[in-house]
Amino acid sequence: MNTPVWMKDDSTLDERTMRFMAGEDVLLDRHLFVHDIRATAAHARGLAEIGLLLAADAEAIESALDGLRVSFLAGEFVLDDRYEDGHSAIESFLVERLGETGRRVHLGRSRNDQVLVALRLFMREALTESAALALDAADAALERARDTETLPMPGYTHTQRAVPSSVGLWMASFAESFAEDADLLIATRGWIDACPLGTAAGYGVNLPLPRHSVGAALGFSRLLINPMHAQATRGKAEVQVLAALWQFAQTIRRLAWDLTLFSTAEFGFVTLPPSGTTGSSIMPNKRNPDLSELLRAVAPTIAGCQAELQQVLALPSGYHRDLQATKGPLIRACLAATRAGEIVPGLLRGTLIHADRMRAAIDPTMYATDAAVELAAAGTPFRDAYQQVARRLDDLGDRTPEQSLDARVSPGATADLMLDQIQARIDRVRPAAAPPEHQQD
Ligand code: ARG
Repeated sequence: MNTPVWMKDDSTLDERTMRFMAGEDVLLDRHLFVHDIRATAAHARGLAEIGLLLAADAEAIESALDGLRVSFLAGEFVLDDRYEDGHSAIESFLVERLGETGRRVHLGRSRNDQVLVALRLFMREALTESAALALDAADAALERARDTETLPMPGYTHTQRAVPSSVGLWMASFAESFAEDADLLIATRGWIDACPLGTAAGYGVNLPLPRHSVGAALGFSRLLINPMHAQATRGKAEVQVLAALWQFAQTIRRLAWDLTLFSTAEFGFVTLPPSGTTGSSIMPNKRNPDLSELLRAVAPTIAGCQAELQQVLALPSGYHRDLQATKGPLIRACLAATRAGEIVPGLLRGTLIHADRMRAAIDPTMYATDAAVELAAAGTPFRDAYQQVARRLDDLGDRTPEQSLDARVSPGATADLMLDQIQARIDRVRPAAAPPEHQQD
């Protein structure tokens, strides 16, 4: 490892101890690096704004940082354990490139606010990405709802056949759920859209840092004002981001569960896309729904990461190195959510529906609720109608799933799926999902 930035004449280094303290930090910083670079450039510009850096030096720093970003993205600059962390890598790159000018960049900031700002930018981007993916999933589900609208299938409660339902109702439920998830992800992005940079180690500095313009340059809509509070949000913002991602993953889990169940030979309601199934290593007859099973595993991964974060947060005010342990679960959860989100639209569009099997699974007793409601609507008290129907379950008249569904006129139900209203919700959320103009690079 290169000499740490904090190394003083009297410091000693023990390789094993250093390795333990760094942990996987520098590798995780690969996910934060471009954000750290961007915030470093904004900080340098801020220093120039208050006359603490020559304009030419700030420009040189900015252009060197731009080069670093390009070469990192091209895989030429490798962030590895030669560096203690991404922050040190940026600084040593600048010193190597610019000599003394590079050594000026850390004036007025601490790695504590440096990591906070990079994390905020990372979270903002992760939320924007997952909101867009949730909307793509909502689109795909709504498309399926439109092309299947009144196709009958059984509706279950307690995993028992309950009442006739429709594929349109099933699919529209996911369209609405994904739209709400997107909405929550965007609201959460607004909640964390505050700039911690310029709070230094958590107590401010004896400089008139232009925090407002630096924050605005990074696309933040407000500042985290109090430096101690800014520190106290480390991990706390992350918990909320994971809560929103968990909601998205939970919708994915429910869909994946339904698909896994309905694709069994016992149900035979759907066939999953071939790309989402695998064979068995021993049983030549098998096709396994691994994709939907793995999608099901994302919500628990996120919940586990959230619990990991919450355990770290039992700390008093001020920065504590324990907080480094919040980085892994945040990044793991964000990657899990976005990778899963990318899969969902294709899975929805590629799933074959077996209308005949679904229709055949509606047995005649499933009209019992319709019959009881009809009697009650004609004047019999509902409780009496319920008892009457319960006594003649095998004699509910000639009914078809289509008749039952045509009569299901309560708003949102199959005769009135309100797909246009669900579409309108998606359309309302969509413009908000694109990063606000001030956040675009
Ligand atoms: N890797 C550290 C973290 O994630 C960076 C901040 C280090 N600050 C410090 N004072 N040692 O928290």
